[in-house]
Amino acid sequence: MEIPFLQSAFGWAGLCRSLLGSRGGLQRVWDSFARDTGLSTDFVFTSSCRAALVLAYRALCLDGEVIVSPLTCSAALQPILAAGLRPKFADVCLDSFNLDPEAAQRSIGPRTVAIEAIYLGGNASGAAALAELARKHGLKLVEDCTHGAGARDGGCPTGTFGDAACLSFPKIVDGAGGALCGRNATWLNDARNLQSSWNTTSRLRIGLRLLRTLLTASGINLSEENVPESLLRFARRRPESPNGSTTQVNIGKCARTRSVESAWAACQLGKWRRLASGRQTAALHLKRALARHTPNVRIQLSVGGAESTYTRFYVRVPARSDDMIGLMRKHGVEVIHLSHGDGACQLRLDHDPCFSPYLDPKELPNYFQLHDHLIALPLHAAMGPTEAEKIALALKLSLAAAAGEK
Ligand SMILES: Cc1ncc(COP(=O)(O)O)c(C=O)c1O
Repeated sequence: MEIPFLQSAFGWAGLCRSLLGSRGGLQRVWDSFARDTGLSTDFVFTSSCRAALVLAYRALCLDGEVIVSPLTCSAALQPILAAGLRPKFADVCLDSFNLDPEAAQRSIGPRTVAIEAIYLGGNASGAAALAELARKHGLKLVEDCTHGAGARDGGCPTGTFGDAACLSFPKIVDGAGGALCGRNATWLNDARNLQSSWNTTSRLRIGLRLLRTLLTASGINLSEENVPESLLRFARRRPESPNGSTTQVNIGKCARTRSVESAWAACQLGKWRRLASGRQTAALHLKRALARHTPNVRIQLSVGGAESTYTRFYVRVPARSDDMIGLMRKHGVEVIHLSHGDGACQLRLDHDPCFSPYLDPKELPNYFQLHDHLIALPLHAAMGPTEAEKIALALKLSLAAAAGEK
């Protein structure tokens, strides 16, 4: 692949430091990351964002419905079920692709206990409005900052609007694990204790993850013949089925962490500021190139004083996402849909037996307009105007081909 979706910031030096490092280094790096992002310095290191979300919901001792956007990867939704709660899907904004605060307000009912804010692609639009809504109705706000760590809305950083903030290091710096933070030390300690009862991440899993990250960093594209990925799936614990449902919830990434993971996270997290500012510059290059070549493509917008960290660069295209993934690939550019895996699109939730029982399609017209027409373009910290131009041209040609095929 000439332009892969991910260009890893991890290398051999990182591998050596991860293998030789100790658990202790992470707090020091986190302190400086917390200063940069506005997050609290008190945090729980978790095996993934999924683990952080499950811990957040369990430690908050909630029972009822969580209002959440359907326009996301299922990994952001599975923890709601895994914690014994029910998702209540509210519609998204056509501009920002995030949960629409007005639709969220309409969805509040007697069983609502929380709102999950997801900052798709790193876009913080709606964060302040959701925080206000949660405050007004006495609901908990759980922030999924997987893409959005360091983004702002109305000048305030994401992760400070709610009761809990959940992060995923692979998505922001190519590190291992994730984090749960919040201002309430007692509650955070409960989460820490809950996590200590989990099994530790298997060594095989960590080894395969290191191998996969290193291969990606060395330019070996694994998306077609993804051997480490298949092995990883094999190594995963059997998913849990909460509430006795027949559908499976994959919380295989919920585990107690090992010191190699925290050393890996420490080694990568120190790069956050450089990577985030590089991605913002790269996003500007892409926007200029797209404005020249593909005026019919809608770029995800930051609305109402919000900023984006551009962890992913989402666009809405007239063609179908699954066709575009194949056509862009023919032009040497790897694009993804809502989750990064084997090149497939995220199942629309009305086709997903896990989530369709919780969906009322009549309430979600914008979601149904957007879901099949979103793609995330490659974006990395070192991307210059030439690469951005190639991506825009590939997009233009792919759109023309998709229109011709109709
Ligand atoms: C919005 C969102 N939340 C949560 C996750 C899960 O992150 P993790 O793999 O760290 O559990 C993802 C995965 O891509 C995601 O896109």
